[in-house]
Amino acid sequence: MKLRPDIEAFAQELTDWRRDIHRHPELGYKETRTSGLVAERLEAFGIEVHRGLGGTGVVGVLHGSLGDGPSVGLRADMDALPMDEAGVAEHRSTVDGVFHGCGHDGHTTMLLGAARSLAASRAFKGTVNFIFQPAEEGLAGARAMMEDGLFDRFPCDEVYGMHNWPQLELGTASIRPGPVMAASDRIEIEVKGRGAHAAMPHRGVDPIAVSAHIITALQTLVSRGTDPQDAAVVSITAVNAGSTFNVIPHTARLLGTCRTFRPGTRDRLEAEIERVAVGVAAALGATAEVTYTRGYPPTVNHPGPTGRFAQAATAFLGAGAVSDDADPSMGGEDFAFMLEEVPGSYLWLGQGGDFDLHHPQYDFNDVLLPVGASLWVELVEGPR
Ligand code: NI
Repeated sequence: MKLRPDIEAFAQELTDWRRDIHRHPELGYKETRTSGLVAERLEAFGIEVHRGLGGTGVVGVLHGSLGDGPSVGLRADMDALPMDEAGVAEHRSTVDGVFHGCGHDGHTTMLLGAARSLAASRAFKGTVNFIFQPAEEGLAGARAMMEDGLFDRFPCDEVYGMHNWPQLELGTASIRPGPVMAASDRIEIEVKGRGAHAAMPHRGVDPIAVSAHIITALQTLVSRGTDPQDAAVVSITAVNAGSTFNVIPHTARLLGTCRTFRPGTRDRLEAEIERVAVGVAAALGATAEVTYTRGYPPTVNHPGPTGRFAQAATAFLGAGAVSDDADPSMGGEDFAFMLEEVPGSYLWLGQGGDFDLHHPQYDFNDVLLPVGASLWVELVEGPR
């Protein structure tokens, strides 16, 4: 791997920018400071800037100096997570309960680094649209930008995204065609029984006992009902009922997530979660109301752009550093919406380290900043 010399020369600035954003994390759609910094820097590089797409989203438009060519979208996310940071770095979060625990501070900075380099050289054909999106963490900022006319105002022939990946060694990457991240949907189940004195359970219908049966029965939807060659997750992640020792509550509320890759599996699980919850509750004399909310679709890489991204990564990181055999992740990714509309691809860039994404001690690896910025430039300047 050989960094772009110009990017290597300003790598320390990238670290300073990343740490500044890390110190001042902002939640989805509230990235006013971050998007302001982004817009100001793009303008300083001489790039045409459009603010306020999908709330706090920013788009920078740059034309190459080598003539006609494709219009390529490069996307970074800007939002932080609603969690406390447990790390002790000097640049740790200064905002209680808000933390860049997924490295979007690094993604934003890598794309700024690429924009700076490309604006200085303009050694490419066609147009690059630098897309800085809000609210990746569950609030669909990509879709908000698209509903605000992202691809009408800034047409893209291809669109690309990348995410730092702690499970991969620094200096490596993983990319493959087809599904790489799962559809991510929300489950809410309201179980209604009949409240009673805890010493007289026969006078009521215990929604906690009913919930326990529902949770157990839901486990069979994947283990018994889903093709073992397919992949799916049904997790109940919150159980809320009751408040004291001697009262059987009237209701119980369950929350959970459903993750799938195939549209048919998603449709089936949506129907079966309701069937099982309602049926088990009825069998035990209670009722259940299921609200299933579709979140992000699966992230599906298109073959052509995936080949180009893999080629750029191999040219830059070296043969053998880029794999196509990493298993897809059951995590969800907002970039999926963009890939539904525009051909493109999503790459995992190895950053190593001891802590996974969303761990309270996670921190983006600053060594990766010039690496990611150089890879973006390689992709834009590469053959197509
Ligand atoms: Ni993320």
